[in-house]
Amino acid sequence: MQPTNPGRAEIGLIGLGTMGAALALNIAEKGFRIAVWNRTASVTGTFVAGAGALAGNILPTESLEDLVAAIAPPRAIILMVPAGAPVDQQIAALRPLLDPADMIIDAGNANFHDTERRAQEARAQGVPFLGIGVSGGEEGARHGPSIMGGGPPEAWARVARVLTAIAARHGDTPCATWMGPGGAGHFVKTVHNGIEYADMQMIAEVYGLMRDGLGLGAREIGGVFEAWNRGPLQSYLVEISAAVARAVDPVTGGAMLDVILDAAGQKGTGRWTAIEAQHLAAPVPVIEAAVMARNVSARRAERQAGEALFGRDFGRGAQEVQLTIADLEGALIAGKVLCYAQGFAMLDTASQTHGWGVPLPECAKVWRAGCIIRSAMLDRMAAALEEDPARNLILAPDFADLLRWHHGALRKVVAAGALHGHGLPALSAGLAWFDLMGRARGTANMIQGLRDFFGAHGFERLDGRPIPHGPWGAG
Ligand code: 6PG
Repeated sequence: MQPTNPGRAEIGLIGLGTMGAALALNIAEKGFRIAVWNRTASVTGTFVAGAGALAGNILPTESLEDLVAAIAPPRAIILMVPAGAPVDQQIAALRPLLDPADMIIDAGNANFHDTERRAQEARAQGVPFLGIGVSGGEEGARHGPSIMGGGPPEAWARVARVLTAIAARHGDTPCATWMGPGGAGHFVKTVHNGIEYADMQMIAEVYGLMRDGLGLGAREIGGVFEAWNRGPLQSYLVEISAAVARAVDPVTGGAMLDVILDAAGQKGTGRWTAIEAQHLAAPVPVIEAAVMARNVSARRAERQAGEALFGRDFGRGAQEVQLTIADLEGALIAGKVLCYAQGFAMLDTASQTHGWGVPLPECAKVWRAGCIIRSAMLDRMAAALEEDPARNLILAPDFADLLRWHHGALRKVVAAGALHGHGLPALSAGLAWFDLMGRARGTANMIQGLRDFFGAHGFERLDGRPIPHGPWGAG
């Protein structure tokens, strides 16, 4: 990627929205000349005007043709446009202007199916294409995101210098890794987001127990999260939970949290994880519960009607919940382990199904810094996956110990939630999965009997005898 003409840019970027602008500044700050183009020209002008000293490394352009001319061949152009049809439209407009060796990199939150299709189209045309997942929000994009790459390894190698330079670092290790061909990078980002939904949902569930079950105020709750962030739960999301809980509403002077509408939106990446999990027959109940809970949260009018009808007359009351802060911390630790175990197992299944060869330990490593789900626990997860990537995380000694230690707290919290009417879908789903995983003798023999009874579906016998049907007809 050495520029043949030092005046030309080493890389290009299309789309100067929040994330695109932040990424372009990051690239310029790391010493790379970058050419930028935005559909609305005034946005480009405002961007360069606000770039300060970094403007020296930024080449603003006014048309796609100008953009292409401003970059040294073989070119690499990052697309930071909204996922879906805009990406296809941009590729269709850009590709005819490029040389066959020039590379397009989609760095948006693409659905991996779209990335697989685009990768296939690029392969058919003999042109390089990368789909990369970028996590860390605006702050991450500006100062160091976590980058999950997908596409031909030789294409990744061409831009790895830039991408590793702009990525977050965990110690000396840059958080930018090639995850596999085709849509592998965007798939890993999708599962990252599914886990992000689940982490946030579990945080919201323990917040709810503190607020409605223990009667704590937002400031006190902020203090609890702050304390937890110094222990095994140390993570970006717990850290910002403390900040969110402690923030003061400038209008009322009360807690900011208490005036935020309790209806969560979504752009859909968590939903994609749940949908893909079903296609793969991969059990990710904690993520599915988190997606469900967001959908329920959005149905506020129905929830209000529900409260009016079922109300507070099930004997549930705030002061009846007998839980300690340590119980809640233990439940969150156990829930987190269960959720990540499910997420990594799903990634493994997807990797095998699609033939990607996603390196699971590298995946845990790339999430250790820069991304939204970064946490101290991921370092231990990377170590466990390095020992044996095929083993479910709950069976790894380190995490088996954590679960032995904390599953009691999770049971206590889920039981208290059930008794007193506090919905805890993600924590409950994690516990139910854990209990299924801890029983060698399950209950699906009953399902098999029923299936055979009404549909002659057959079954296997425990003793291996070749008698695939029950005596239902005769009975
Ligand atoms: C990240 C985030 C980022 C964003 C998603 C999820 O890794 O930086 O995941 O991609 O938060 O768009 O947003 P929704 O909650 O709206 O689905």
